[in-house]
Amino acid sequence: MANPLQSLGFNFLKNTAQQGVGGVEASKLTRRGFLLGAAALSSCSRVTPEPIEEGGSITGPIPRNPTIRFTDDFKIGNSVTYTRAMVSGKYIAMTFDDGPHPQNTPRLLRMLRARNIKATFYVIGQSVNSHPSILRQTVDEGHEIGNHTQTHRLLTKLGDDQLRWEMKSCRDAIQQAAGYDPKTMRPPYGALNQRQRGLVYNEFGYPTILWSVDPMDWKRPGPSVVASRILSNTTQGGIVLAHDLHAGTVSAMPSALDGLLRRGFKFVTVSQLLAMQSELSSNSETTTEAQS
Ligand code: NI
Repeated sequence: MANPLQSLGFNFLKNTAQQGVGGVEASKLTRRGFLLGAAALSSCSRVTPEPIEEGGSITGPIPRNPTIRFTDDFKIGNSVTYTRAMVSGKYIAMTFDDGPHPQNTPRLLRMLRARNIKATFYVIGQSVNSHPSILRQTVDEGHEIGNHTQTHRLLTKLGDDQLRWEMKSCRDAIQQAAGYDPKTMRPPYGALNQRQRGLVYNEFGYPTILWSVDPMDWKRPGPSVVASRILSNTTQGGIVLAHDLHAGTVSAMPSALDGLLRRGFKFVTVSQLLAMQSELSSNSETTTEAQS
């Protein structure tokens, strides 16, 4: 651990996950929070948990997400990194990072189930080891699981062998808990240099998945703000970043998801979204270069 902030950050995360409360300022763990740095960490004890709100101001019947065939012919190869996908319909992918969390994840799963929405969960191996049954439930309900490392360290500070260990340990934790092999990874804080992305892609087969929509839910702006940021910024082919580690983020989901459904968006998982892009590329015989 070259960086003391890093290990401090992880302890916040671990404690939050283990205690099942949102009172710890785990938001400092996100990429921006991390980069904003040490000054903010000193304010941790003054953070008050936000009130939990269910639902939102949107009324009327909730549309149901269509059942979309899960394609397994996802061919990596277009790009090592994706922030979104080029697709021909109003398809988007919701992603939830840093779980599984013993209370927030099951609560989110109920919301997704009620709307027939499949999402992608970038899980932390250590949390998977603590809550394997929640991961199994997530897989059983048809969601996709992605590799978010074993201990949520800043990967750009690690040597190659440490990076391999983070990837492999998380993969093994997911495999052991649910018999499932992740197809993609997301680096903690979005931080992975180009050479490391190549290593992870070549050795593990994972493209690096970032995002096109960041509601900055780690700052705990309140559920209605999180929901409105997602609604304002999501466009076709988008990948939305959120954290099921935070209770307030989960509370934002009924209005965020219902608002997106009303706007005609259809929810798929990350690898489904990338497979749609691959099909589009091969059909049109043009090369679609994802942003990196
Ligand atoms: Ni994370």
